[in-house]
Amino acid sequence: MTSSPGKLVICHTSEVLEGEFATRIVVDDVAYAVYRLGDRYYVSQDACSHGPGSLGEGTIIGEEIECPFHQGRFHIPTGKPTFPPCTEPVRVWTVHVEDGTIWIDPDEPPPA
Ligand code: FES
Repeated sequence: MTSSPGKLVICHTSEVLEGEFATRIVVDDVAYAVYRLGDRYYVSQDACSHGPGSLGEGTIIGEEIECPFHQGRFHIPTGKPTFPPCTEPVRVWTVHVEDGTIWIDPDEPPPA
Protein backbone atom coordinates (compact mmCIF):
# COMPACT_ATOMS: atom_id res chain seq x y z
CA MET A 1 0.00 0.00 0.00
CA THR A 2 1.36 3.40 -0.88
CA SER A 3 0.72 6.81 0.58
CA SER A 4 -1.50 9.31 -1.19
CA PRO A 5 -2.95 12.70 -0.25
CA GLY A 6 -4.79 12.25 3.05
CA LYS A 7 -3.26 8.81 3.57
CA LEU A 8 0.19 8.41 5.06
CA VAL A 9 1.39 4.83 5.42
CA ILE A 10 3.27 4.43 8.69
CA CYS A 11 4.22 0.75 8.73
CA HIS A 12 3.00 -2.81 8.65
CA THR A 13 1.44 -4.21 11.81
CA SER A 14 4.20 -6.83 11.94
CA GLU A 15 6.72 -4.02 12.56
CA VAL A 16 5.01 -2.89 15.76
CA LEU A 17 6.51 -4.36 18.90
CA GLU A 18 4.28 -6.07 21.41
CA GLY A 19 4.01 -5.87 25.15
CA GLU A 20 5.69 -3.01 26.98
CA PHE A 21 7.59 -1.62 24.01
CA ALA A 22 6.59 1.26 21.75
CA THR A 23 7.95 1.40 18.20
CA ARG A 24 9.67 4.38 16.59
CA ILE A 25 8.99 4.70 12.85
CA VAL A 26 10.38 7.42 10.58
CA VAL A 27 8.38 8.34 7.49
CA ASP A 28 9.60 11.12 5.18
CA ASP A 29 12.03 12.34 7.87
CA VAL A 30 9.25 12.63 10.45
CA ALA A 31 9.33 10.30 13.46
CA TYR A 32 6.20 8.69 14.85
CA ALA A 33 5.61 6.49 17.87
CA VAL A 34 3.42 3.46 17.21
CA TYR A 35 1.79 1.46 19.97
CA ARG A 36 0.04 -1.88 20.17
CA LEU A 37 -2.48 -2.23 22.99
CA GLY A 38 -3.92 -5.70 22.69
CA ASP A 39 -5.34 -5.84 19.16
CA ARG A 40 -5.51 -2.04 18.80
CA TYR A 41 -2.92 0.27 17.29
CA TYR A 42 -2.21 3.93 18.04
CA VAL A 43 0.09 6.54 16.55
CA SER A 44 1.47 9.71 18.14
CA GLN A 45 4.24 12.13 17.40
CA ASP A 46 7.53 10.62 18.53
CA ALA A 47 8.84 13.78 20.17
CA CYS A 48 7.93 14.21 23.81
CA SER A 49 6.23 17.57 24.43
CA HIS A 50 8.46 18.14 27.45
CA GLY A 51 11.91 17.78 25.94
CA PRO A 52 14.17 15.61 23.81
CA GLY A 53 12.65 12.23 24.74
CA SER A 54 11.55 9.81 22.03
CA LEU A 55 8.19 8.26 22.92
CA GLY A 56 8.80 5.52 20.36
CA GLU A 57 11.62 4.37 22.60
CA GLY A 58 9.48 4.57 25.71
CA THR A 59 7.75 1.98 27.84
CA ILE A 60 4.04 1.20 27.68
CA ILE A 61 2.37 1.02 31.09
CA GLY A 62 -1.31 0.12 30.79
CA GLU A 63 -2.71 2.71 28.36
CA GLU A 64 0.15 5.15 29.00
CA ILE A 65 3.51 5.70 27.39
CA GLU A 66 6.37 6.61 29.69
CA CYS A 67 8.96 8.90 28.16
CA PRO A 68 12.45 7.43 28.60
CA PHE A 69 13.99 10.85 29.29
CA HIS A 70 12.29 12.10 32.49
CA GLN A 71 9.68 9.36 32.91
CA GLY A 72 6.72 11.66 32.26
CA ARG A 73 3.67 9.91 30.82
CA PHE A 74 0.90 10.37 28.25
CA HIS A 75 -2.40 8.60 27.68
CA ILE A 76 -1.79 6.74 24.42
CA PRO A 77 -5.29 6.99 22.89
CA THR A 78 -5.65 10.75 23.50
CA GLY A 79 -2.08 12.05 23.85
CA LYS A 80 -3.00 13.85 27.07
CA PRO A 81 -0.31 14.17 29.73
CA THR A 82 -0.91 11.93 32.74
CA PHE A 83 2.24 12.21 34.82
CA PRO A 84 4.71 15.05 35.45
CA PRO A 85 6.83 16.66 34.28
CA CYS A 86 4.68 16.43 31.11
CA THR A 87 1.95 19.07 30.93
CA GLU A 88 1.36 19.54 27.21
CA PRO A 89 -0.36 16.87 25.07
CA VAL A 90 1.29 15.12 22.16
CA ARG A 91 -0.37 14.89 18.75
CA VAL A 92 -2.24 11.68 18.04
CA TRP A 93 -4.01 10.53 14.89
CA THR A 94 -6.82 8.12 14.15
CA VAL A 95 -5.24 4.86 13.06
CA HIS A 96 -6.54 2.95 10.08
CA VAL A 97 -5.51 -0.65 9.48
CA GLU A 98 -5.99 -2.04 6.01
CA ASP A 99 -4.56 -5.39 4.88
CA GLY A 100 -2.10 -5.25 7.78
CA THR A 101 -0.93 -1.76 6.92
CA ILE A 102 -1.21 1.10 9.41
CA TRP A 103 -1.98 4.51 7.98
CA ILE A 104 -3.08 7.92 9.22
CA ASP A 105 -4.47 11.08 7.69
CA PRO A 106 -1.70 13.56 8.60
CA ASP A 107 -4.07 16.48 7.98
CA GLU A 108 -6.74 15.20 10.35
CA PRO A 109 -7.66 17.91 12.86
CA PRO A 110 -6.22 17.25 16.31
CA PRO A 111 -8.66 15.77 18.82
CA ALA A 112 -10.44 18.36 20.97
FE1 FES B 1 9.91 13.46 28.00
FE2 FES B 1 11.05 15.12 29.75
S1 FES B 1 11.60 14.79 27.69
S2 FES B 1 9.48 13.67 30.12
